[in-house]
Amino acid sequence: MKTLQVSLAERSYPIFIGEKLLADAELLRAHVPARQVLLISNTTVAPLYAQLLKKAFAGCELVEAIIPDGEQHKNIATASRVWDVLVANRFSRDAMIVALGGGVVGDLAGFAAACYQRGIDFVQIPTTLLADVDSSVGGKTAVNHPGGKNLVGSFHQPRAVIIDVSLLVSLPEREYRAGLAEVIKYGLICDAEFFSWLEASMPRLLAREASALIEAIHRSCALKAGIVSRDERETGERALLNFGHTFGHAIEAVTGYTEWLHGEAVGTGMLIAASLSHRLGMLSDADLKRIGAVLAAAGLDRQPPQCGAARALEYMRVDKKVKSGRVRLILLEQIGRAIISADYADAALDATLLQYFG
Ligand code: NAD
Ligand code: GLY
Repeated sequence: MKTLQVSLAERSYPIFIGEKLLADAELLRAHVPARQVLLISNTTVAPLYAQLLKKAFAGCELVEAIIPDGEQHKNIATASRVWDVLVANRFSRDAMIVALGGGVVGDLAGFAAACYQRGIDFVQIPTTLLADVDSSVGGKTAVNHPGGKNLVGSFHQPRAVIIDVSLLVSLPEREYRAGLAEVIKYGLICDAEFFSWLEASMPRLLAREASALIEAIHRSCALKAGIVSRDERETGERALLNFGHTFGHAIEAVTGYTEWLHGEAVGTGMLIAASLSHRLGMLSDADLKRIGAVLAAAGLDRQPPQCGAARALEYMRVDKKVKSGRVRLILLEQIGRAIISADYADAALDATLLQYFG
């Protein structure tokens, strides 16, 4: 088992990464020391893994809130049902929530924890690769609003993140590859050596080899933990984690959030961002080729919808990253070095959008 720390003074917390951690009752009990525990999971994950957790908590008051599966249920109505369960069972301020699931469950459970009695503790047990390396770490919690994704939320850090790579065996292939996009992102924005490791290790990762997964998740979480420790509230550096997301957001929005998984859109979005960086004269030919090759090896080289450049730009503009009317983009100077920029040539952006969106 590997261990990391997210350093945030009194809100610091550990991340554990290993195999069969759900069977480790001692670890689970040590990091969920409450008498009353609410387990939040969904209708897909709970039948697979909730039993293991329940075993570890034998003797505590453990109540379950099993939510329907799907992004469309990450809303205030579902959160409200979770609060109903907490109230009905008279859970007090020292109760804890355990989130067992992907990013949807984790974001919703974190949000429910942030609000119940003005904030109770929660622990993340992520079950998708995307949640392992991104959503479970960093304390962003939210639900969606009809007006937009993640519009209502709060920063609320978990007390611990317990990442059991054994749970990834049941993850559908598309979901798994979508999670790889976020792993690749870390190499691209801040760690060239990690990117080289990913180039060499892609076959082992695609085969879901536990040792390769533990290494990739450990390195990704270490990079995210460092960024979050330095910029918890995204006033600067944390925005680099949105690399590829503004273009990805346009892809998801144009296709009505149904055809593309978020990570798939981020994968193609990163290629578009790299291509723009190259067009702007920042990124070398060689780096652009390497980026394209890794994304293709991970099966993340889908062609964007041919909706037209103007429509794609429209959707990019409603993304949260717009400041003073100008879309701020994360661009690459080289593999392992990203910058945030609102100062790029519009003609280069237009030409790149034309190239990818028609
Ligand atoms: P998800 O939670 O919808 O999970 C994907 C699918 O896989 C679901 O059908 C789920 O039931 C299933 N699943 C989960 N674990 C499984 C397992 N081990 N075996 C079999 N099936 C399993 O999607 P996701 O990609 O994990 O998360 C996406 C969400 O995360 C979005 O709502 C996004 O906004 C959010 N997110 C949040 C942050 C953050 O910092 N808080 C960062 C990135 C994404
Ligand atoms: N997923 C982006 C962030 O946590 O900031």
